[in-house]
Formats: sequence, structure tokens, C-alpha cells
Amino acid sequence: MSKPVTTSTYVRCISYGLMRRLADFIDPQEGWKKLAVDITDPSGESRYNQMHIRRFEAFVQMGKSPTCELLYDWGTTNCTVGDLVDLLIRNQFLAPARLLLPEAVRMAQEVTLPLSSQETLPIHEKQLPIQEKEVASGKPALAQSTEKQHSAPSYLSQESSSLQSSSTDFHNFSFHDLESITNNFDARPESDGGNKLGEGGFGVVFKGYINGRNVAVKKLVAMVNVSVQDLKQQFDQEIEMMAKCQHENLVELLGFSSDGAQPCLVYEYMPNGSLLDRLACLGDTPPISWSIRCKIVQGTANGINFLHENNHIHRDIKSANILLTDTYTPKISDFGLARASVTFTQTIMTERIVGTAAYMAPEALRGEITPKSDIFSFGVVLLEIITGLPPVDENREPQLLLSIKDEIEDEEATIEDYVDGKMSDWDAPSVHKMYSIAERCLNEKKSRRPDIKMVQQHLQEIKS
Ligand SMILES: Nc1ncnc2c1ncn2[C@@H]1O[C@H](COP(=O)(O)OP(=O)(O)OP(=O)(O)O)[C@@H](O)[C@H]1O
Ligand SMILES: [Mg+2]
Repeated sequence: MSKPVTTSTYVRCISYGLMRRLADFIDPQEGWKKLAVDITDPSGESRYNQMHIRRFEAFVQMGKSPTCELLYDWGTTNCTVGDLVDLLIRNQFLAPARLLLPEAVRMAQEVTLPLSSQETLPIHEKQLPIQEKEVASGKPALAQSTEKQHSAPSYLSQESSSLQSSSTDFHNFSFHDLESITNNFDARPESDGGNKLGEGGFGVVFKGYINGRNVAVKKLVAMVNVSVQDLKQQFDQEIEMMAKCQHENLVELLGFSSDGAQPCLVYEYMPNGSLLDRLACLGDTPPISWSIRCKIVQGTANGINFLHENNHIHRDIKSANILLTDTYTPKISDFGLARASVTFTQTIMTERIVGTAAYMAPEALRGEITPKSDIFSFGVVLLEIITGLPPVDENREPQLLLSIKDEIEDEEATIEDYVDGKMSDWDAPSVHKMYSIAERCLNEKKSRRPDIKMVQQHLQEIKS
């Protein structure tokens, strides 16, 4: 029998089983990242920098728990369960804190709060959709934005021409309609006759067919550690953002549904899937030529420019969020994470870190929100375009694609060594030009990165 856990137990002495149970709460939705940035050394300095955080993220790809790795590492400093519980409570991870020291959590709650709306769900409630509980409590998911939305009758009864409706005139689908067009949200991959197109941080995406047209339905699923508030916020934000954003390089939102167990977003269907998958030739798709890659980066930059011009920061620019039409026109998806910045020069601090670490600028990892972080992420996408390599790969040295910049700077390699062998129409001057833009976008100092207008200008110099 292991000894009971007390405030003074060392974190390094927590049993494997208990560690795993903690990780079940903290791994999803990258909760561990929030903890990692909040851990300090005795000097008060942050213990983990962006490189450390990216290394922890690489453990996810290896099927390991980043939370366990983080706690093993932090444990070497002889930190205690008391320290860990403080950290968890400070970051609103009450359920895992309760696993360690239930009494401490009860006391903290009595002192500081009425039950926090941020509280995460315990693991055993995993199967129960969060939204269901919300519905049961009588509060509609779109409470704040309903007056803006057009409550059209079921889309199924509409003419197909109504799909051309204006951006603020979204269709309010019924959940039942979406069930019927996605074969009851058939979660088998398309190759097995199902409707699943993919899966991301906030939900599963299904292919649907309606009035002679394919659509993509994103069903926002409840996951452990995503609070009801976060989920609703994601939905409302996405709707509001997309209502304002219509551009040929942004994926169009066609409608939504909020009357079912889970909220859904309906997007235009992008037949060539994501840039990430096409660069990897997933499903044996043909490699993308250099001239098309040039067109893709230019279109993506135009999409980012539109967002930045409208004072929106995407915050999750990555090749998985760049989707491709039948003619390989790129369209940026997922504005749910974007926040309008009050003014362009001002940066906002957020306590919730969003984004994908392999793409994240140093300041974004610290929770700062600035358009220059989108530029950094775009720099990683440019490297993917040139090399055809994924942004992170644990079986590779260097694991992180952005580290090739250091290798090239140190003259250990040249960009030509890294050019994707799956394309034949590239030429050295244009590859060098694109790499030099990537290099500038990837400057650790945000003030030294170009803005999107400058990026667009430089990209125009590339012959495609
Ligand atoms: N409109 C769409 N048309 C076709 N395929 C899509 C569409 N939207 C998403 N997909 C597919 O579903 C996958 C998952 O998308 P999703 O946005 O849920 O996750 P992600 O982009 O990998 O991560 P994140 O949650 O950070 O956005 C995409 O990579 C893409 O292959
Ligand atoms: Mg996405």
C-alpha cells in the first residue's frame, strides 16, 4: 500500500496510478500547458520556456502523457503536493486538486468562491455531453447572440439557392436535420463508408450532403477538462467572427445548430482537405507542385491580411487549419479562437493559452495575444510548404521543424537540403526567397517580424 498523500508529500513520490488519474484531467485541451507556464523556480523566474513546452508537446505525439512528463520534471525540484495543489487551484483545475487534497480544495472554495463556472468536469462524466447539461439547466447555448440570428425554418425545406445567403443570414439548422445529412454522424472514416472527415481540439468534423451540395459539419463535443463556458464561448465566438469575415481565402460558415445535445457549425466543404494532409499525401493523394504551393501561401497570406485588417488575430494558424478547394485555393478555417484586438498596437494578455505549440511564438506561449504571433505561425507553415515535413515528428532530428532555422543559421545545412523531394518544379531563387520570408517571420523578437502586408509584398516577388 502506498502512503496517503499529504501536503508535504513530494510530487516525485506520487504513485503512477494517481499520476495517471491526474493526467486524465490535465492532458486534454492542453491543460498542462497552462500549468507549465505558471510554474516558477525559487528565483521567481518561469521554469519552462517555449522550447521546454514544445518538448513536452512532442510527448503527445509519442502517445505519452505531457502532464506526467511535466510533473516528473518539476518533481526533481522537490516540490510538494501542497505546491501542486496550489498550482492546480490557481489555474481552476479543481477536480484533479480534489483527487490529491480534497480538504484543501473545499477550504479554498469556501474562502474564494461560489462554485466556479470554470470548473472542469470529472472524468466519469466524460460520456455525458456537456451541452446536454446546459440544455437541461434551461439556458440556450446561444443565449447572448440569438437576437442577431435569423431563425429560418429547417434548412431542408429551403431552396438550395438560399445557400448563397449573406454572412449574417446563417441558417439555423435543427440538430435532427444535421443528423439526417450526416448519416447519424457516422463516425467511421470516409474510406470505410462513414462520414468522418477529421477531428480537432473542439470536435469532430463530418461530411454531409444537402440539396446537391456537400457540407462539413463540426459537432462540438464535450471533453474532459473543457468547461461548459469554454465550449459555449467557442461556439459564440466562431459565429460572431464568421459573421463578419467573408473572404475568398476564409472558409465560409453556412449555418449552425444549437437545439440538440451538442452545438454544431456547418461549413462549406473543402474537397482537398487540409494542407497538412495534402503535404503528407495522406490517402495517397498526389504531391502538390511548387507553383501550387506558391499560390497556396499567397492566398493564405491574403486571408491573414483580411483578418488583421479587421483587427482579428487568428491564434491557431497551422496547416491543419488551411483547407483546400478542388482547385487548391487555400481557405483558412477556425476563427473560434480568434479574439478581436481592441486596437492593432495593443496586445492582450490571456490566462488561457490557445494554439498549437509547434507553431507558437515565444510570446504566444506566455499568453500574449498579438498579430505578430500569427506571423510566426505562418513562418512555420512556410517551412512546411518548402520541406513537405510535418511541424513536429518525434522520430526526427530535429523534432521541431522550426529548429531547421537554427541548423541553417549555424551553416550545418542549407534550405536546399530540406526542399521537399516530392516536387520537381521548384527553383533555387524562389525557394530561397520563400525561406528568407519564413526566417523573418520566425524571429524570436516579435518587433523584428514583418507584418502581414510586408509578407504579402515579399511573396509577390516569388515567381509561381
Ligand atoms: N470544411 C471542411 N471541409 C473538409 N474537411 C474539413 C473541413 N473542416 C475540417 N475538415 C477536416 O477535419 C479535420 C479536423 O478539423 P478540426 O478543425 O476539427 O481540427 P484541427 O484543424 O486539426 O485542429 P483545431 O481544433 O486546432 O482546429 C481537418 O484537418 C480537415 O481534414
Ligand atoms: Mg481546424
